[in-house]
Amino acid sequence: MTTHPLRIIQISDSHLFADASQSLLGVNTEESFQAVVNFIKNAAGKIDLIIHSGDLSQDGSKESYERIAQALKELQVPVYYIPGNHDNVRTLTAVYPIEPVSGHKHIVLKDWHIILLNSQKPGCVEGFLDASQLTYLQHCLQTYPEHQAIIVFHHQPVSMGCAWLDNLGLKNADEFWQLISGYPKVNAVLYGHVHQENMQMVNGVKCYSVPSTCIQFERDCDEFGLAHLPPGYRWIDLHEDGFLETGVQRIEKYVGHFDKSAKGY
Ligand SMILES: [Fe+2]
Repeated sequence: MTTHPLRIIQISDSHLFADASQSLLGVNTEESFQAVVNFIKNAAGKIDLIIHSGDLSQDGSKESYERIAQALKELQVPVYYIPGNHDNVRTLTAVYPIEPVSGHKHIVLKDWHIILLNSQKPGCVEGFLDASQLTYLQHCLQTYPEHQAIIVFHHQPVSMGCAWLDNLGLKNADEFWQLISGYPKVNAVLYGHVHQENMQMVNGVKCYSVPSTCIQFERDCDEFGLAHLPPGYRWIDLHEDGFLETGVQRIEKYVGHFDKSAKGY
C-alpha cells in the first residue's frame, strides 16, 4: 500500500493592517492575502498543515491577527506561525492560539519534525536567533535524532545576492550553521522576509524562501525594487523515506496597482 506524503503549505509576509482597506505600495494586502487563500483552497489539494513564516501584520494590530485566523479557518487545517520583524510578539501571543492558529513551536510527525523559531530582533529589521532559540533548537534536534528535521524562521540565513536584503538577514547565521552541522538529519530550512522564491543548498541542507502574499521584491538587485510578479505560496511534500518535494504556485495576476517607483517599504 502506498502512503501519501504529508503536504505542508508555507505562506508568508501577508503584512495586513488593522484597517482592511489599507494598501502597501499599491497593494491592498487584505485582498491579496484573500486571493492567495482562495487559490490554495482550490488548487493545493489535500493539505495537512499550514505554516505562516512571519510578517503576518504590517502594523502589529490585534485586528490583523484576528482576520488572518478568520481567513485561514476556511482551509480547515492547523496553522502554525513564527513572528517576523513587523509583528508585535506581545499582541501575537495575546491573540493566538485561536482556531485554527496554534501556539506550538515543535510539530512532531511520523519520520519528520518541524521546529519553529523566533528570529525577531526587537526594534530591528534584521534578524537574530538568541541563546534561548538556539538552545530550544538543539533540544528539539537532540530529542528526535532519527527524524528528518525542518527548521523555520523569518530571516534568511543565506545571501540572496541583493546588497540591501543581505544587510537585513539573519545576523548570526554562522552560529546557526555551526550548530546544525552536528545534526545530519536537518533536511531543510524555510524562511520568509525576502518576498521572492529562492532555493539554495548549504552544507547539504536545502534552503527555501517563498513569495509574499502581497508585494514581491526584485531579485538579484542591490537596491530595493518591486517585481511585477503575482503573489503565491510554497507547497512541501514530506515522504516517508526522508524525500522532500517542493514548489511554488502563484495566483494568476498581481493584485492592486504595481508601483514601479517604490524605493522602500
Ligand atoms: Fe515582509
